[in-house]
Amino acid sequence: MTDKKIIAVVGATGAQGGGLVRAIMNDPNGGFTARAITRNATSDKAKELVALGAQVVAGDVDDAASLERAFAGAYGAFCVTFFWDHFSPEKEMAHARNMAQAAKQAKLQHVIWSTLEDTRLKVPLSDDRMPTLMGKYKVPHFDAKGEANAFFTGAGVPTTLLHTSFYWDNLIHFGMGPKQGPDGKLAITFPMGDKKLAGIAAEDIGRCAYGIFKRGGDFIGKTVGIAGDFPTGAEMAAALTKALGKQVRYNDVPPEVYRGFGFPGAEDLGNMFQYYRDFEADFCGARDLGLARKLNPELQTFPTWLERYKDRIPLD
Ligand SMILES: NC(=O)c1ccc[n+]([C@@H]2O[C@H](COP(=O)([O-])OP(=O)(O)OC[C@H]3O[C@@H](n4cnc5c(N)ncnc54)[C@H](OP(=O)(O)O)[C@@H]3O)[C@@H](O)[C@H]2O)c1
Repeated sequence: MTDKKIIAVVGATGAQGGGLVRAIMNDPNGGFTARAITRNATSDKAKELVALGAQVVAGDVDDAASLERAFAGAYGAFCVTFFWDHFSPEKEMAHARNMAQAAKQAKLQHVIWSTLEDTRLKVPLSDDRMPTLMGKYKVPHFDAKGEANAFFTGAGVPTTLLHTSFYWDNLIHFGMGPKQGPDGKLAITFPMGDKKLAGIAAEDIGRCAYGIFKRGGDFIGKTVGIAGDFPTGAEMAAALTKALGKQVRYNDVPPEVYRGFGFPGAEDLGNMFQYYRDFEADFCGARDLGLARKLNPELQTFPTWLERYKDRIPLD
């Protein structure tokens, strides 16, 4: 038995949860330990977490009973859903409901729910500036998370709602890096005009979450918005040009062009970027760089992230 407070981490082998597990385990005197939840405790990624000293337990957000077992005896939990694995807002909500109920059952003292804005509060379905998707969403992977907040708060789970930002890691893993145009020149393409894109290194989300857990009850019942930097598309291109030593242009396209790119999720992302663009002041204003840096002194800006990870960005 450990006398440390156990944080049960959903998505522990992934970007957000992995950042949290590493932050906890890299701070042996912090008073916390991590319980990593995975569907496959024998995977290489799970073994890496064991090597850090984390407990690793089986759990699946599809299986409510497995979550109850995984959360039992813990002090807190970090909860996240996996929209891009299934593209279903309904599944995201069902998974969030399962986690909220398991947290209540386990009488957890602090849950961080990794969420995003329900864009329909600002862009009702009747607003035709962007198409309604899947019958009842504007930005399905945002709206479902925002709607799911109520599963946690409505059940009386002591929750911090954590509003995250666009991962710069998308330039590495999500096909959003610089691409060669017909002229042979590299460009990044976003439908953002000259507006700022609130972004963050995915690993910094977990580190900020750790900072929130360390502050005890300070953020229970509160919403915390985090980002590492607010570069415009042109500023991102300039930083890429500098870091890569190759010219990268910013290709600004209208949101309807982006929605028509045809890759899975293009419409959802086109609406998402349009929301970022049209509500720039609200979206960036809801994310506090100073607080994020207090929670996580290692917080990276876009240039510092690029310096560390530029060699992993595919250039095609
Ligand atoms: N990309 C962005 O810019 C961005 C920005 C903000 C928020 N988000 C949101 O971030 C969320 C994804 O988080 P992430 O990037 O940290 O995920 P991720 O890196 O894709 O990691 C997901 C991990 O979760 C586990 N997992 C998948 N399905 C599971 C299930 N049914 N039950 C239990 N565990 C499961 C997998 O681990 P095992 O295989 O070990 O089980 C996987 O390693 C999405 O909902 C997305 O909308 C993304």
